[in-house]
Amino acid sequence: MLLDGKTALVTGASRGIGAEIAIGLAEQGADVAITDLASQSVDLAKVQAAIEAAGRTCYNHALDVTSKSSIEDVFAAVTETAGGIDILVNNAGILVPKRLEELDEATWDAHFDVNAKGILLCTNAVLPQMRARKQGRIINIASIAGRQGSPTQGHYAATKSTAITLTRVYAQEVGMDGITVNAICPGIILTEMGKENLGSQEEIDHWSNVAALKRLGDPKDVVGPVAFLGSDLSNFVTGQSINVCGGIYFH
Ligand SMILES: NC(=O)c1ccc[n+]([C@@H]2O[C@H](COP(=O)([O-])OP(=O)(O)OC[C@H]3O[C@@H](n4cnc5c(N)ncnc54)[C@H](O)[C@@H]3O)[C@@H](O)[C@H]2O)c1
Repeated sequence: MLLDGKTALVTGASRGIGAEIAIGLAEQGADVAITDLASQSVDLAKVQAAIEAAGRTCYNHALDVTSKSSIEDVFAAVTETAGGIDILVNNAGILVPKRLEELDEATWDAHFDVNAKGILLCTNAVLPQMRARKQGRIINIASIAGRQGSPTQGHYAATKSTAITLTRVYAQEVGMDGITVNAICPGIILTEMGKENLGSQEEIDHWSNVAALKRLGDPKDVVGPVAFLGSDLSNFVTGQSINVCGGIYFH
């Protein structure tokens, strides 16, 4: 299989896109460390069961991507037990829609802490062992919002532009050690976050009609591109951000 012998770690893996990525990577042969907030333990256990049903080993850890010390502890534990982390998927994210004029500092800070600083902290935690092993795949889940913001998503879009920029710069800083860093920019994916953001059936119908493929995304639609970026098929791809949006946005 595509990811035989690899170990992946996925943040925010209890539901939505992160859960499907974790299960999808396991179905491609990877052992998977699934992590999410402690409050998500029930859902995380369901993802663990699906990974084990696919015949793969699953490591399950509570992890808040805003906590440097907890990231270092969890990454060290997984590295020791699994022998190394080959693929890091920085998926954890939040979106609380608000117009910029009404945005309070705490909401701004929370989005940057999770969506941007979380990538920095998790990536820096995994790099030493990837550098030592001269291999690694880092995949950041950004968003087409990071390419073009829209009303009520200015702060979120700014964090996702940051994710795209971090992807480009990390790629240049770590490529010499055989590590690639890429991003996926999902379009509108019908997860809890996606549905909450759209709000109404009219909005769903509108955006489905805008999309070239005439539908919005399922979390499973994101899995193939992540598996590709995590595999040897993408050996010469780095610093790139790939839209996975059904043809809703083209730049
Ligand atoms: N759904 C969409 O339309 C869409 C579009 C583009 C990008 N994305 C991105 O995809 C990723 C997953 O989104 P989703 O739609 O599955 O959302 P979701 O809300 O269903 O899942 C997000 C996950 O992140 C976890 N999380 C939140 N804060 C965390 C923290 N501090 N530490 C660790 N985990 C934390 C949540 O517990 C949850 O499991 C996010 O980065 C999101 O921005 C989603």
